[in-house]
Amino acid sequence: MVISARDMLLKARAEKYAVAQININNLEWTKAALATAQKLESPIILGCTSGASRWMMGFSTVAAMVNAMMDEMHITVPVALHLDHGSYDACYQCIKAGFKSIMFDGSAYPIEENIAMTKEIVTIAHNLGISVEAEVGAIGGEEDGTISMGECADPKECKRIADLGVDFLAAGIGNIHGVYPPNWPGLSFKTLEAVKAEVGDELPLVLHGGTGIPDDQIVKAISLGVSKINVNTECQLVFAAATRKYIEEGKDKEGKGYDPRKLLLPGTKAIEAKVEEKLTLFGSVGKA
Ligand code: 13P
Repeated sequence: MVISARDMLLKARAEKYAVAQININNLEWTKAALATAQKLESPIILGCTSGASRWMMGFSTVAAMVNAMMDEMHITVPVALHLDHGSYDACYQCIKAGFKSIMFDGSAYPIEENIAMTKEIVTIAHNLGISVEAEVGAIGGEEDGTISMGECADPKECKRIADLGVDFLAAGIGNIHGVYPPNWPGLSFKTLEAVKAEVGDELPLVLHGGTGIPDDQIVKAISLGVSKINVNTECQLVFAAATRKYIEEGKDKEGKGYDPRKLLLPGTKAIEAKVEEKLTLFGSVGKA
């Protein structure tokens, strides 16, 4: 059964590694992420956006699928199923659907409104043992139709949101979703330090836009308090590349190569390799 992400991230924070949030888009993604986490004895967070949930026929389908797959695959490592960039309504839908972890992304609202909504959601979620991530300072790039420029969060605003009792906090530090442009200046460690100075050492911080951040910056971010790193685009890119290669080599036309179980296998294996690379880099291997 999926669990809250609270304890796994507090452990990660204390032991200075990060848990990967691997976004899921369908059954193959979920299978690849779960199998790899189990193989490496690593905790894992499966992230699901509202858009991905619509593709998979709703949050209750996603929750039922993940719980059933954990059972069938004999998954024993800690797994959290987490709403990624949830609206106010999506948070309630996920609570109803059986998610044990949600993100309320109020970063597009004026700070007072973000605070009021986050506060309400934290109270309700905590009564049900559900962990809550909040966001301050929009993460740039494009995800599920939401487009914003990379922002650096205001540390004082972070403190106000942290004081609401959120379990982990996404603070913009110049990170963006998707592939980084060649002129991207890198993460703002100055902002990360300033946020940490305000919110304290114990609160796990979240780094969105994990795709394409150079390894040395990832390692430094973890050393400065980042305990959860979200990865989505990189898995999509390797899945697409492996599937393209299979088709361009004409393998779908050999025998029953068009069978989806064969057609989708190289992409699924590519995701497994990518997840293994990330869990190793983030330091969560053997931490289950
Ligand atoms: P990427 O798609 O850039 O890896 O970002 C994922 C993410 O932050 C999900 O919230």
